[in-house]
Amino acid sequence: LESPQDTNVKLLKVCQLLDREISYYNWTGFYFKNGDKDELALGPYVGAVTDHVIIPFGKGICGQVAVSGETFVVPDVHAQDNYLSCSIDTKAEIVVPIFKDGENIGQIDIDSHSIDPFTKEDEELLNWLCEEVAKVL
Ligand code: SME
Repeated sequence: LESPQDTNVKLLKVCQLLDREISYYNWTGFYFKNGDKDELALGPYVGAVTDHVIIPFGKGICGQVAVSGETFVVPDVHAQDNYLSCSIDTKAEIVVPIFKDGENIGQIDIDSHSIDPFTKEDEELLNWLCEEVAKVL
């Protein structure tokens, strides 16, 4: 069995790869359910330091995805009421849930400095990636 440290190194590499290869991915990170609490805890990420290290279920885009289990594409964050701002540069966000054995255990969260940059191809890529990530968790 892999140690949590090894897993976090892999997850960080995934973030680094996405950040390097896709110009409009400007903050890329993972959140995971925090033990048996109804909250998310920040995992490996690349980008600006964020205040949102713990996010209660239901709060912000991430907290809503923790509840819904559905991908949430936000073309313009300023049009959202239930949104937690990490950086004034962020204009758009996509959050894709990670399922392990049918359970919503976390998510990948990507912020962009561009307005409305995320396409169906981003959704497909990130869905595939989250399935691959679930296999090493
Ligand atoms: N914007 C997110 C919070 C996490 S930061 O983007 C890293 C949200 O509304 O849930």
